[in-house]
Amino acid sequence: MTKVYVPRDVVALALGADRIAKKIAQLAAARGADVTIVRNGSRGMFFLEPLIEVETGSGRIGYGPVSPADVTSLFDAGFLTGGAHPLRIGKPEEHPFLAKQNRLTFSRIGITDPVSIADYEAHDGWKGLKKAIEIGPAAIIQEVTQSGLRGRGGAGFPTGIKWKTVSDCVDDRKYVVCNCDEGDSGTFADRMVLEDDPFMLIEGMAICAVAIGATKGYVYCRSEYPHGARAFNEALTHARAAGWLGKNIKGSNHSFDIELRMGAGAYVCGEETSLLESLEGKRGLVRAKPPLPAHKGLFQKPTVVNNVLSFAAAPYILAEGGAAYAAFGMGRSRGTMPLQIAGNVKFGGLFETAFGLTLGEIVEEIGGGTRSGRPVRAVQCGGPLGAYFPRELFDTPFDYEAFAAKDGLIGHGGLVIFDDTVDMADMARFAMEFCKIESCGKCTPCRIGSTRGQETIEKIMRGENVSANLIVIEDLCQTMKFGSLCALGGFAPYPVLSALRHFPEDFRPQTAAAAE
Ligand SMILES: Cc1cc2nc3c(=O)[nH]c(=O)nc-3n(C[C@H](O)[C@H](O)[C@H](O)COP(=O)(O)O)c2cc1C
Ligand code: SF4
Repeated sequence: MTKVYVPRDVVALALGADRIAKKIAQLAAARGADVTIVRNGSRGMFFLEPLIEVETGSGRIGYGPVSPADVTSLFDAGFLTGGAHPLRIGKPEEHPFLAKQNRLTFSRIGITDPVSIADYEAHDGWKGLKKAIEIGPAAIIQEVTQSGLRGRGGAGFPTGIKWKTVSDCVDDRKYVVCNCDEGDSGTFADRMVLEDDPFMLIEGMAICAVAIGATKGYVYCRSEYPHGARAFNEALTHARAAGWLGKNIKGSNHSFDIELRMGAGAYVCGEETSLLESLEGKRGLVRAKPPLPAHKGLFQKPTVVNNVLSFAAAPYILAEGGAAYAAFGMGRSRGTMPLQIAGNVKFGGLFETAFGLTLGEIVEEIGGGTRSGRPVRAVQCGGPLGAYFPRELFDTPFDYEAFAAKDGLIGHGGLVIFDDTVDMADMARFAMEFCKIESCGKCTPCRIGSTRGQETIEKIMRGENVSANLIVIEDLCQTMKFGSLCALGGFAPYPVLSALRHFPEDFRPQTAAAAE
């Protein structure tokens, strides 16, 4: 029997993976080949999807990108034994895009069947939770603190401190809430965890529950992830049946269960307090802080809200020790970050690496430059509220502090690449428009400022009173930055100001400059 792996990740599905799986099954039957098709996750090399792999005596051999029309020629070439074919890439793990990574969190992704609990266990699954139950809350928090893990949702707050704050609260009920709203442009790492390794998220949340003494957890998932939701719910059922969730987990005195809730689609519902409101069934309005969610969160009870990637890092940290995780990275940015390389880029996909690579290395060497073949002009890092980096800043290391020093943010690790045809004034205009559309409306600088900001940039683009309007927009950005209640209004100025600073020529159209 030969195992053939056909990914079930939506990227592969969008490119015909289901039809490929069907065709492989049909041809195998017609040709009398004994084939078992495994629906694995994606390796994250989207430029090779659908990447079909075959288990051979010398390991797994990949072929990609495969289209349904290629399947007959793959059979003819003897792909079931690793035969030569123009789409053959050799062993996936030896492909430079994968070989250069430090896959701590994504170690299983693309390799296992995401909803097979046996496969999860066979690939080091549950090791972290077993250890957590054995060592107890204080030692868990010690490991997470030592790992240096910082929240991967955007703000980079130390996870160990957050867990300790909730652990120290005395209350009859505490909650673990996973933020899987993943609203940032060009990001997909949370989706991949949900679809391609859902047990890892369950394990990470359960570790947190043991650490803080919570019995109930929620995953708040964006509505655009139906495949991820299905995979996660299936994994929940298996985990309950196997005793990793529910009453007295694996005979311990810890009980914990998780529920998945779908959002209705609002960027601001990724903001943690707005998310909690939404989870409580209310409109997604941002809450004023304090109180922090750690003290009064879901239903006013102490709550840990963490991003998917923060929870997903916990199983490795517990299994291997905080020091092993902290051994990767630079400065105060410890461990690894699953970079999501997107936009106009040749090699788009997920690249998990220790902090410290320069932006230029990521974009030019790993990403391979633009897909259009034109020069890279700008990279937006950290989602729609992140700054635009010009080539001149390509020596900036991927590190929380180094990016902040350049008025940027690494956020959730998304990088959207643009070539030299991009109009940066239009990008700045879009940042304000995005903020206008997504604003929850609670505070004036964001609600009104974003509308006025969009109008003012449009005037600049039309060449109306450019110099005066440039002063207005700078002033407005400062008001939004310092006067907004949350980071939606507070950070929308970053793409605008970075576009103004690094690409001033785009804000002075020839006609306007000449007219003044
Ligand atoms: C407008 C806005 C949108 C956000 N969207 C997300 C999101 O989609 N996912 C996420 O994890 N964090 C998001 N955050 C950050 C959360 O408020 C919060 O900091 C995070 O969930 C905490 O988890 P972490 O410490 O693991 O990063 C957003 C923040 C703001 C202001
Ligand atoms: S900054 Fe915008 S999204 Fe945040 S609270 Fe104010 S109005 Fe709402």
